[in-house]
Amino acid sequence: MASSQIIFSILLLFIFSLSSSAKPSSRPKALLLPVTKDQSTLQYTTIINQRTPLVPASVVFDLSGRELWVDCDKGYVSTTYHSPRCNSAVCSRAGSISCGTCFSPPKPGCSNNTCGAFPSNSVTGWSTSGEFALDVVSIQSTNGSNPGRFVKIPNIIFSCGSTSLLKGLAKGTVGMAGMGRHKISLPSQFAAAFSFNRKFAVCLTSGRGVTFFGNGPYVFLPGIQISRLQKTPLLINPGEYFIGVREIKIVEKTVPINQMLLKINKETGFGGTKISSVNPYTVLESSIFKSFTSMFVRQATARNMTRVASVKPFSACFSTQNVGVTRLGYAVPEIQLVLHSNDVVWRIFGGNSMVSVSDDVICLGFVDGGVNARTSVVIGGFQLEDNLIEFDLASNRFGFSSTLLGRQTNCANFNFTSTV
Ligand SMILES: *[C@@H]1O[C@H](CO)[C@@H](O)[C@H](O)[C@H]1NC(C)=O
Ligand SMILES: *[C@@H]1O[C@H](CO)[C@@H](O)[C@H](O)[C@H]1NC(C)=O
Ligand SMILES: *[C@@H]1O[C@H](CO)[C@@H](O)[C@H](O)[C@H]1NC(C)=O
Ligand SMILES: *[C@@H]1O[C@H](CO)[C@@H](O)[C@H](O)[C@H]1NC(C)=O
Repeated sequence: MASSQIIFSILLLFIFSLSSSAKPSSRPKALLLPVTKDQSTLQYTTIINQRTPLVPASVVFDLSGRELWVDCDKGYVSTTYHSPRCNSAVCSRAGSISCGTCFSPPKPGCSNNTCGAFPSNSVTGWSTSGEFALDVVSIQSTNGSNPGRFVKIPNIIFSCGSTSLLKGLAKGTVGMAGMGRHKISLPSQFAAAFSFNRKFAVCLTSGRGVTFFGNGPYVFLPGIQISRLQKTPLLINPGEYFIGVREIKIVEKTVPINQMLLKINKETGFGGTKISSVNPYTVLESSIFKSFTSMFVRQATARNMTRVASVKPFSACFSTQNVGVTRLGYAVPEIQLVLHSNDVVWRIFGGNSMVSVSDDVICLGFVDGGVNARTSVVIGGFQLEDNLIEFDLASNRFGFSSTLLGRQTNCANFNFTSTV
């Protein structure tokens, strides 16, 4: 009798703790993070509210990153930090293949019987060994046009890096927020926590933009809902987001390119076109860069634009004389990325092609990636700004709006005034 009562209450306790640990504080349909451009490094940063008590951790926003990693060496204080045990479900979800021992006094980032991580700084390309950990994250919900209440996720998996790994990152940041195609990237963990679609949309800008997780709508001031995105398959090249650019055109003229470079080599992972938030400008493999730049220069000079001396890191620079200004930026030859079909075209206008380097000089904002570039085309931040791009990980589709300037708004126009 007594023992069955004990078993019963243990069972109850077990069920109770299971449901309370598995269930986050509420079930929003979508979440958001602000994404701000750092003017000195041109990196995009976001704030992750993590730990107990909560700390707003500024981290670099990385579309290719595998997970959230933060510096645990310095100043990581939290009563809810804990370590997953080797061979646990968390470790296998994280894809960890090692089990660590730490010979220093125990602290965040130094535990025994915890699975090993390999946090990586995608700006410098450096990695260090570290370990996986779990802690609370609090994030704002959204109805698509304003931020709503904060919701807590008790156990976000992240990895602990060291202070030295921060080298090369924007001042004040303590790690990187990985948004890549992985089970423990933030979009995957947010979707799993609240059972919403594995989908997120990014709107970068030169100031503060926004990222939405879950379903739309995506609404920007003055009350403009961004819908009717063009769609193209999101290609698999593990971890990162690739799209199939088949052709690059400048004002309807095809840039001659070795077609092999535009395809992803399935064995080596080389080639193809990736979307990156850590490259400030689009990077083109050398032969593509040369042929692209010379065609652009030819078209620009045919329009009476005057070429002037190069300004690093750019090659083709022009005087602003004779260049008109439109709603879409400087009136320069239009660049077109032709995707899986001839009618799915990413159009790039002056606002996303020309960088102002001084009062009277603008440069084509594309850079040379060298002859041995791993990825032939890396679409970088400046070309993504004021475009809404959507990653649908469940259906492997990439959606893009083309410039929002053409829709009378921009990515800085999200209304960050909370409705709670
Ligand atoms: C881990 O185990 C080793 C060897 O058993 C021990 O020396 C060390 O103090 C432990 N470290 C932690 C962080 O518990
Ligand atoms: C979101 O909430 C605000 C405040 O309640 C409201 O004004 C707005 O219309 C809502 N937006 C959507 C898309 O439902
Ligand atoms: C370029 O300049 C020439 C000579 O001034 C003029 O005849 C021509 O119409 C101009 N072309 C364009 C595209 O503006
Ligand atoms: C932003 O949203 C708040 C809350 O809904 C609203 O009061 C305010 O008018 C909005 N701002 C603008 C510029 O429309």
